[in-house]
Amino acid sequence: MFFASDNAAPAAPEVMAALAAANAGPAPAYGADVWTKRVAQQLAELFEHEVAVSLVTTGTAANSLALSLLCPPYRAVLAHEEAHAIADEGGAPEFFTGGAKLVGMPGEGAKLAPDALRAGLAWGERRFPHSVLVGAVTVTQATELGTVYRPAEISALAELCRSSGVALHMDGARFANAIATLGCTPAEATWRAGVDALSFGFTKNGALAAEAVVFFDASRGHELEARRKRSGHLWSKGRFIAAQIEPLLVDGLWLRLAGQANSAAARLAAGFERRGFRLSGAVEANEVFVVLPQRIEAALRAAGAVFYSWDPPADGEDGLFRFVCAWSTRTDEVEALLGVIDASA
Ligand SMILES: Cc1ncc(COP(=O)(O)O)c(C=O)c1O
Repeated sequence: MFFASDNAAPAAPEVMAALAAANAGPAPAYGADVWTKRVAQQLAELFEHEVAVSLVTTGTAANSLALSLLCPPYRAVLAHEEAHAIADEGGAPEFFTGGAKLVGMPGEGAKLAPDALRAGLAWGERRFPHSVLVGAVTVTQATELGTVYRPAEISALAELCRSSGVALHMDGARFANAIATLGCTPAEATWRAGVDALSFGFTKNGALAAEAVVFFDASRGHELEARRKRSGHLWSKGRFIAAQIEPLLVDGLWLRLAGQANSAAARLAAGFERRGFRLSGAVEANEVFVVLPQRIEAALRAAGAVFYSWDPPADGEDGLFRFVCAWSTRTDEVEALLGVIDASA
C-alpha cells in the first residue's frame, strides 16, 4: 500500500531488460551512441516535428536547463505557485538561468489561468524599470494537483506569451499521464498549442532515471548541448539514459504504463467517494487528493499504508492527503487500502 510517490515505483521490466542489453561491449561516449540517436529520432516521430533533444537524469535538471535557454538572467519566469520549479527545485532554475527571478501565480487546481497570466505579464511592465520583465512561463502537465490542461487551455496561455514575446515551457514530469488522459497526440498538447520546450519525464513513467529536454526549434540544439555540458549533466555513458527511454517509446509502452497509473488513481478516487470522502479536486491523472478524518488517517498508517500529508489536520480536524499511483500500482493494493477504511468504519 505504497501511495507516497510515483518516484518510489520500480523501473519497468522492459527498461531493465533494455539496460542489460545495452550493457554489451563498448559504445561511443557522450551521446554519440546509437541508442541516443534512435531516441532523438523516436521523439521527432512522436512529435511529428524536428526537435533538439538532450537527455538528463532528473526533472530538476531538465526544467532548469530548458529555462536557462528560454529566459535571460535579468528576466522572470512565471509559474503557478505550486509549481515544482518554484517549490521543489532548491533554486536550481535560478542557478541555471544565472539569476532569473521565479514568480509564483495563483490558479485553481494548480493551473495557470489566462487572467492571472495576463496580470503577471503586465506586472513586469507596470513599474519598469523597477519591476522585472518576464522572459518565460512554465506550466506543469499534469499539474502538481493532478489536473490536466486541455490543448485549448495551453493555446490560450501560449497566445498571451506570444503577444508578449515570452517563451512557453512545459514541465512534463507526468506528460505521459496527461496524454493518456487527453487522448490527443503529443504534438497537439505541445508545439501545435504553442509550447516552445518540454521536459519530457520518463522516470515516473517506468524508467530508472531518464528525462528528455525537447526543443521544438531544432536550431537550439547546439546551445542546449553546450549548457547541458556546462551544468555537469552530460553523461559520458549516455547510452544508459537513452536505453531506458527507447523501450518506453516502442509500441506506446509509455502510454500504456501511464494509463495503468491513471486507472489505479481513478479506482482509488471512486472508492474514496463511494465511502463519502471528498476529493479536493478533479482526478485527471495519477494523483488523488482527498480529505480524510484523523481517525481514518491513523487506521491507514497503522495498517502500513504510505501516503503524503498535503495539508496536515489540526487537532481533531480533517486533513488533506495525497495518494499517488504509479504504473506498478496493483488493483489489490488499491482494494486493500479501501478495505482498511471499511474495517475501521
Ligand atoms: C511536477 C514535477 N516536475 C519535476 C519533477 C522532477 O523532479 P526530480 O528533480 O526530483 O527528478 C517532479 C518530481 O517529483 C515533479 O513532480
